[in-house]
Amino acid sequence: MAKREVSIKEIGIVNEVAKVLSRGQSFEEASLDVLKVLYSFWNISRGLISLYDKNIKSLRVVASFGSWKKEVKREDIWDKVYKNGIPMFLSEGSESFFSVPIKVGGEVIGVLSLYKELGPKDSVESALEMLLIVCTMLGMAYKLDERMQEQKKEWEEEKEELTKVLQEKYSLEGIIGRSPAVKNLIELILKVAKTDVNVLITGESGVGKSLIAKAIHFQSSRKNRPFVTINCSAIPETLLEAELFGYERGAFTGAYTSKKGKFELAEGGTVFLDEVGDMPLSLQPKLLRVVQEKEIERLGGEHTIKVDVRIISATNKDLKKLVEDGLFREDLYYRLSVFPIHVPPLRERKEDIPVLVDHFLQLFNKRYNKKVGFDTRAMDVLMEYPWPGNVRELESTVERLVILKDGLITPKDLPSYLFSEDTKEKLKNLPSFVESTEREEIIKALEKTGYVKSRAAKLLGLTLRQLDYRIKKYRIPIKGS
Ligand SMILES: Nc1ncnc2c1ncn2[C@@H]1O[C@H](COP(=O)(O)OP(=O)(O)O)[C@@H](O)[C@H]1O
Ligand SMILES: [Mg+2]
Repeated sequence: MAKREVSIKEIGIVNEVAKVLSRGQSFEEASLDVLKVLYSFWNISRGLISLYDKNIKSLRVVASFGSWKKEVKREDIWDKVYKNGIPMFLSEGSESFFSVPIKVGGEVIGVLSLYKELGPKDSVESALEMLLIVCTMLGMAYKLDERMQEQKKEWEEEKEELTKVLQEKYSLEGIIGRSPAVKNLIELILKVAKTDVNVLITGESGVGKSLIAKAIHFQSSRKNRPFVTINCSAIPETLLEAELFGYERGAFTGAYTSKKGKFELAEGGTVFLDEVGDMPLSLQPKLLRVVQEKEIERLGGEHTIKVDVRIISATNKDLKKLVEDGLFREDLYYRLSVFPIHVPPLRERKEDIPVLVDHFLQLFNKRYNKKVGFDTRAMDVLMEYPWPGNVRELESTVERLVILKDGLITPKDLPSYLFSEDTKEKLKNLPSFVESTEREEIIKALEKTGYVKSRAAKLLGLTLRQLDYRIKKYRIPIKGS
């Protein structure tokens, strides 16, 4: 009985094996380390771990230690061990050959085989006992590794899915337009995305500058790294420096910990300096340093930090004019605008309006579960309007209408600010427009004639009956009657 017990020495070996298996390596790496432990602490001369591979329908070596020439391999024996799940032992001259199944929950998944010279004090039973323990541990390690791989695969799939969603959201398909201006923009984006040069996007507010900046990032090789936006006008000057460059603990009152700035957070990716024209002059030298040397220094920090970022800036201001007025550093301006992209206002590319309207209709109909559309006359009104707020204004106008209206929108459903005097004139002869402004016209006529209905009717070219009908229909209050 005493012989079958695992000795102190063997407990030590099992302990070493446990240590190796808890390192969190892959099963293959761990297997080799287990063989090395058996070599160092238990004097095996050769060791080999094989796993059953479903693809080749046989055992496959995952780790091997020492030389395994054909004559010592004894593949016939491992196969038997694998099939029967029972350990085998052979005496081969001065050495002993052990082959032990590795099991997971009763199922044999592989085999551990080794050669070892047994000393006079060693017993086969205690050796086998210990090897069974080692194999149980290997089985557990295998199962853990398998679970980890599955998890990892799941995470990776999830990550891929998220990146895809993001990329679709901001990919070039997200930039709608059929005007030559937009086609040209898409070409520029594709070209510049392949490079690392700094881009300056100019154009009025709402033309799509931020959208273009994202498109460049997601078309570039940095797409799997962060896209970090810094809105230079939204952050108070005093906070902007800390926000951009980070700070060390104790840099100022309240800095209890150190914090990375946006340039550090964007490592490997793209920094988008939105409204760069509002960057305070006092911070421009520090910004120039990042742009030029790709180096930053945290507030209260003592050493410089290298950053690898691509810089895209945008502004709706005339930066050249700011340079002339001494509000923007000339050297910084040239550094930022290596590749300038100008986005024309929507009123200069009217042919984009119908496709943008369709795009936003699709988006908001889906979001609000509606079926709203524009008739051609309503679309004409949208085409004529100068859109001072550009695509952003068009987007919110469509959204509001989708929420408020149902079915087909005609000019009378449109808010009056969309009608210029010019449009009103042009559309006056259209029946729908007459209807939409009829109420106003009737009130005007009534006022002109001191609310004498017969005179008002004459002025409007209507019979008294027709006028009465309309007054009721439009619920026009009649003064003095
Ligand atoms: N060509 C376009 N296609 C689709 N959506 C656009 C286009 N241009 C702008 N938009 C949308 O209009 C809104 C304003 O665009 P944004 O990029 O924020 O403008 P800017 O940064 O120039 O003020 C955003 O919702 C954006 O998605
Ligand atoms: Mg913007």
